Amino acid sequence: MNEHHAVNRRWWAEVTPVHAASAFYDVKGFLAGRSALGAVERQAVGDVSGKRLLHLQCHFGLDTLSWARLGAAAVGVDFSAEATTMARDLARRAGLAGRARFVEGDVTAAGTVEGGPFDVVFTSFGTVVWLADLDGWAETIAANLSPGGFFYFLDAHPAATMFDEEAEEPTIAYDYFQAGEPVREQGGGADYADRSYRIRSESRSFTWSVSAIFSALEAAGLTVFEVREYPFGAWRQFPDMTKAADGYWRRRDGAKPLPLLLGFKARR
Ligand SMILES: C[S@@+](CC[C@H](N)C(=O)[O-])C[C@H]1O[C@@H](n2cnc3c(N)ncnc32)[C@H](O)[C@@H]1O
Repeated sequence: MNEHHAVNRRWWAEVTPVHAASAFYDVKGFLAGRSALGAVERQAVGDVSGKRLLHLQCHFGLDTLSWARLGAAAVGVDFSAEATTMARDLARRAGLAGRARFVEGDVTAAGTVEGGPFDVVFTSFGTVVWLADLDGWAETIAANLSPGGFFYFLDAHPAATMFDEEAEEPTIAYDYFQAGEPVREQGGGADYADRSYRIRSESRSFTWSVSAIFSALEAAGLTVFEVREYPFGAWRQFPDMTKAADGYWRRRDGAKPLPLLLGFKARR
């Protein structure tokens, strides 16, 4: 495994149980019937009933299982053994074990995943920022996508990830264009799902520009389409943001809109 991914895998081993116990992920609500999916991805992906869906970087399975609840035959891939073990347990508790499977693997070297080719390959929220190798990621997508299917991506807009999340006003803190080296966090910071938890492990994160993401997919033989940018986010990216009734976070009235989410599809 890539050296950076090995470091990140230890980080995810530490935080996954914290996430599963957090109000942020709300496992209890999910087991009571709440969907972990937002309106944006549900509308973009459309009806998944009877479709084969591959979820890359599935974490402990809430989104994968939400797609399964909507009728997909879903397979989740994640490199964290803690996450895939929890996801299988959650699938059993939700009565979805017959419709969802979880595979431990690195999404940049997953090869052909059993159960494919897939009508939909899906990934969302907190994805490429963890990857050192976008070419391998794109090859995994191309290897698993059926000719008539599509890949759907939804995540923080790369332009929005330049900013210091703690600053009152947007303040550029990170490079937009990857300079080669990842951002290294030595530990001690608060976990995003449980701010009271201080993470001990080190992590490595990567800034990928929009053109770097699209270029990797193009090099793997995919064509990008339905590109969408949204002025709202899926979490509090700036202190002035509040959560609206639709579940998305918006900046205060009068603040200049920023591109906060990026969504797009790609096909072979
Ligand atoms: C923020 S979660 C994204 C999933 C989903 N949006 C969520 O919040 O549940 C990121 C996931 O990526 C996984 N991950 C990070 N790097 C990976 C890699 N190289 N291969 C497979 N999974 C990876 C982590 O284990 C984690 O479960």
